[in-house]
Amino acid sequence: MSDTKGFATRAIHHAYDPMQNEGALTPPMHLTSTFVFENAEAGGEMFAGEREGHVYSRISNPTCALLEQRIATLEGAEAGLALASGMGAVTAILWTLLSPGDEVIVDKTLYGCTFAYMRHGLSKWGVTVTHVDMTDADALRAAVSDKTRVVYFETPANPNMRLVDIKQAAEIAHSVDAQVVVDNTYATPYLTRPIKLGADLVLHSATKYLGGHGDVVAGLVAGRAEQIAEIRLVGMKDMTGAVMAPFNAMLVMRGMKTLALRMDRHCASAQTVAEWLEAQPGVAKVHFPGLKSFEQHAIAKDQMAKPGGMIAFELEGGMEAGISLMNRLEMIQRAVSLGDAETLIQHPASMTHSTYTPEERAEHGISDGLVRLSVGLEEVADILDDLHQALSPEMRQAAE
Ligand SMILES: Cc1ncc(COP(=O)(O)O)c(C=O)c1O
Repeated sequence: MSDTKGFATRAIHHAYDPMQNEGALTPPMHLTSTFVFENAEAGGEMFAGEREGHVYSRISNPTCALLEQRIATLEGAEAGLALASGMGAVTAILWTLLSPGDEVIVDKTLYGCTFAYMRHGLSKWGVTVTHVDMTDADALRAAVSDKTRVVYFETPANPNMRLVDIKQAAEIAHSVDAQVVVDNTYATPYLTRPIKLGADLVLHSATKYLGGHGDVVAGLVAGRAEQIAEIRLVGMKDMTGAVMAPFNAMLVMRGMKTLALRMDRHCASAQTVAEWLEAQPGVAKVHFPGLKSFEQHAIAKDQMAKPGGMIAFELEGGMEAGISLMNRLEMIQRAVSLGDAETLIQHPASMTHSTYTPEERAEHGISDGLVRLSVGLEEVADILDDLHQALSPEMRQAAE
């Protein structure tokens, strides 16, 4: 399937020919740990990198290889890599790119476990981790130096939705020969393609929108072929062993077939919910790229095809009001993770971002009253109804 076909078509057909596989419409799953060599010489040549082929499933597997080709085409990259989880992707990339004495510059807001890895993992091995507010290009420009090997950020950032201008960040990073790594979990390649905007590597928690059904933990990376090969052989094979299982690759590929359809619905419903929330008394602030009131609305329009399905909001009653809202919900599920068919709600300060200390959260712009909503695929009227009945006591209080 050529790369000139549309996004949804490539998500369904790319790199698979049923006629090469007994006519099977759905790709076969290769449940094998190891691969047989035609003869001893062939095995030696594969180990020496002189002959192509699969050797052992901690290095590569045909089912994972198909998924890798799919994420590469959707991200507009030369190659892809499938890993056990999003955190497997983060760590395999950074263990590969960084050495003691190097510096990684990271945005102020990061997913909680990524933050913990930066603060408590990487720094233990002599890597300097510098947090910079990357919504401010001048701050990033002032921070980079010839010690900076990697510039790393999420856009939109989990959980407060801040955006980073990818093109601008890439220009600044490349001026000191640093690599740009973008966590594209929230946007997915359907909305934003960071490599086209200058990023070197893109990663995903494929657990989220790419899988899309809340039934798999998985990670994906896309980038230049040579760099992906290095991350495969160093970060994945030797340092983390964070390999994706073939069954999980099947689940992620199945999810990706409907990514475009699902994202259209997630985005449209989230826009409706965000506008509705913004109009409710008792709601202090709604952070959503599709709102005109969103500080970075212009960047959103520039680098996101649509505003995404994630909303963060704050109630006038702060954390207490947020917790009681969550406890009154009937259909919306109280759960971490995001990008599933079900609408999910969680409280970052006590859940996904409890890896930050309260002082760190305050410094990094994650307020204690923030509530995170992953807008699902249910009828939007039912999502609004549930929020309405759960918000009502707060609204009554605010009106009093
Ligand atoms: C933005 C982001 N990056 C990375 C991760 C880690 O992914 P995983 O849970 O698949 O390891 C998450 C998980 O919530 C996330 O939200």
